[in-house]
Amino acid sequence: MSEAERPGSDEPYWTERPRSRSAPTERRFLYRGELLSFAVDAGVFSSHGIDPGTALLIENLVLAPTDRVLDLGCGWGAVGVAAAKACPRGQVILTDVNRRAVRLARQNLARNRVANAEVRVGPFFEPVAGERFDVIVTNPPYRIGRERILRLLEEAPAHLAPGGRLLLVGKGSEGIRFYQAWLREHWSGPVEVLGRGSGYRVLEAGARSEPPAARAALPGRRRSSSGGRSA
Ligand SMILES: C[S@@+](CC[C@H](N)C(=O)[O-])C[C@H]1O[C@@H](n2cnc3c(N)ncnc32)[C@H](O)[C@@H]1O
Repeated sequence: MSEAERPGSDEPYWTERPRSRSAPTERRFLYRGELLSFAVDAGVFSSHGIDPGTALLIENLVLAPTDRVLDLGCGWGAVGVAAAKACPRGQVILTDVNRRAVRLARQNLARNRVANAEVRVGPFFEPVAGERFDVIVTNPPYRIGRERILRLLEEAPAHLAPGGRLLLVGKGSEGIRFYQAWLREHWSGPVEVLGRGSGYRVLEAGARSEPPAARAALPGRRRSSSGGRSA
């Protein structure tokens, strides 16, 4: 576990009910000319300050003002608050399994006067069952394992509206090149690299238009390859 991920004890940052001693503090960053302020605490991801991957993701948040956005694995809410500011006439749902993170994210919506967002608790897409979004944005918990991250990527298209997009950040050691290749193979839409820096890249992937079983059944259908800008 890197310093950025260390929740302040030996418990992992995706613990549902962290037991590490609370050490509340404040973090701030500038987003679109507005100084945003965040309550952070031990027992959650990146409690020391904003993670470089998160910062790169926020830099590359390309959202329309009316977008409906899901921030899956919101932590203390940096991405979700920024997304809510970027789509003032849309709506943002933030989710996490870590209840301390959920409590902080709720505080941080209020702290930044965000009225077009809400925070829900639960794993993967359970808190948004049956709902669809224009954009799913995530800095996912890579440390829970490739199998479970692939589950997230497999389930994501069912939660995207037509023309919807996934924005995914990760670094080389987290396997981002593997996930980029996987998305290019398994999603029919284009997969682009929106930004990169310090070993991280932000991927944008378009929703596939039909479920995998249907795609596989199409005669002569080749699996989609790249539509993207770089590899
Ligand atoms: C890498 S952190 C990113 C946090 C925040 N988005 C950020 O960038 O600072 C991943 C987050 O996903 C949460 N998480 C872990 N497993 C999850 C799951 N199955 N479903 C939803 N969130 C999960 C963790 O608690 C953690 O807050």
